[in-house]
Amino acid sequence: MTHVLYDLGAAPGLAGKLADALDAQAGALELRRFPDGECYLRLDTPPAGRDVLLLCTLDRPDLKSLPMLFAAATCRELGARSVGLVAPYLAYMRQDIRFRPGEAVTSRHYAKMLSAELDWLVTVDPHLHRYDSLDEIYSIPSRSVAAAPALAAWLSAHVVSPVLIGPDAESSQWVADVASAINAPWLILEKRRSGDREVEVSVPQLDLHRGRTPVLLDDIVSTGGTMAAALSHVCGQGFVSPVCMAVHGIFAGDAETALKAAGMGRIVTCNTVAHASNEICVAAPLIDAIRELSVRH
Ligand code: R5P
Repeated sequence: MTHVLYDLGAAPGLAGKLADALDAQAGALELRRFPDGECYLRLDTPPAGRDVLLLCTLDRPDLKSLPMLFAAATCRELGARSVGLVAPYLAYMRQDIRFRPGEAVTSRHYAKMLSAELDWLVTVDPHLHRYDSLDEIYSIPSRSVAAAPALAAWLSAHVVSPVLIGPDAESSQWVADVASAINAPWLILEKRRSGDREVEVSVPQLDLHRGRTPVLLDDIVSTGGTMAAALSHVCGQGFVSPVCMAVHGIFAGDAETALKAAGMGRIVTCNTVAHASNEICVAAPLIDAIRELSVRH
């Protein structure tokens, strides 16, 4: 057993599934906060000579990234053979351009910080909009695992006769893949964002799809503003209650209240960020990607 997996925070059960499949030892550690908010970290399972997997999902990244970077640096200092990061959700991908003079393009800075401490990175569907791949900003080998097959499998098993709706142009990459896998019709709305929470989307043209179940699918639900705007249009058109699906359910602040107010019935997410809606497990594709990258080191 050369691998050791330190769980720095992920959805319940994910660390165990990865460790079992990869024959990795579950690394013992203590991670806590000092009263002043700084973090304390101690690795009780020695990483010397081992291939280390750090499992850390990076929603709320300003809280989670420093402990993860400290863990990586400590593993290396204590003689780890390699240190890879499994981040089911990868943060700071949406700031991918300087919209206004002086803005920080944080995706680049974040990528530089992580690339300096890690040997490789595996994540699930990073928000690739203006970047074609993580290689444009990460200088370490990486794999982006696609959630589409797992989303499609869940839909096949749970929703009869769906019509998929993507709330904006960026969502078309997921919506098209999932729809083609289950042979369902799909459409993409136009979105206009005027602030962090202020979002308008075009009205979906659903007349052709009467009798189907609307499924709203996006990569991320953060404030819920995008999904809520799409939901309120669909709900006004006399369809059965739509199913909302997202790869990453961040649910910032009062997102769930906003979604319920807009008519949300069921919401389903992948277990990339821990939440009660995690019905879709991404362990299997993560395991394949980790195997591919970790054997190279
Ligand atoms: C944006 O391009 C993404 O695909 C999501 O639509 C967006 O991040 C959702 O954010 P929010 O829930 O805050 O509207």
